[in-house]
Amino acid sequence: MQSLSKSQTNNCHLLVLISGSGTNLQVIIDQCKNGTIPAQVCGVISDEPQAKGLQRAKNARIQTTVVDYHCFDDRQSFDHRLGQEIDCYRPDLVVLAGFMRILDAELVERYYGRMLNIHPSLLPNYQGLNTHARAIAGRATEHGASVHFVTPELDAGPIVIQGRVPVLPSDTPESLAQRVHQEEYRIYPRAITWFAQGRLSIQADRVLLDGRPIDICA
Ligand code: GRF
Repeated sequence: MQSLSKSQTNNCHLLVLISGSGTNLQVIIDQCKNGTIPAQVCGVISDEPQAKGLQRAKNARIQTTVVDYHCFDDRQSFDHRLGQEIDCYRPDLVVLAGFMRILDAELVERYYGRMLNIHPSLLPNYQGLNTHARAIAGRATEHGASVHFVTPELDAGPIVIQGRVPVLPSDTPESLAQRVHQEEYRIYPRAITWFAQGRLSIQADRVLLDGRPIDICA
């Protein structure tokens, strides 16, 4: 009898971490549901009790957990609880989708190769915050988003895929963010699908797709 692959059984469990509106989360939920992403969202964790994305998860009957940063005495106890909650879901892949806290290095190392982030810039350009405004101020002609594996160094892990958009002379940070978001909705599902299909690996901090160096500008 032929054994089923992960993609046929959709048994790749995604745990999505959010802090805000969760539009990337929504795309991931929808594409898991319609079979475009061969995986299922097993849970959503937010550090923000008011995050709109929590309602999106509830609408889809996905389990949610809030680890509210403000309820902890210090960073260490927050990190510890967050790590415990993540482990509880036993995820195959942790998907950071607008999660605005810097994760503890020990946690990140424990999930090395099993944790993805999406960052709204063409890394290594514009690491950190306010990327759209900085791209406009820097007179960039091109901007975009990057999906990368997470490492302890912020926004610096091995890149899986990037999506590019032009920066127009009339752009405001808001209009540019909207264009970048559309690319995010294209590239994040793609990267997650490759992971769920078991096609991604990392060698010497470079991402391989089907064993070959990946073309990150797909
Ligand atoms: C996205 O722009 C993502 O690149 C960044 O945070 C934003 C999240 O947006 N990490 P949303 O919550 O998915 O709408």
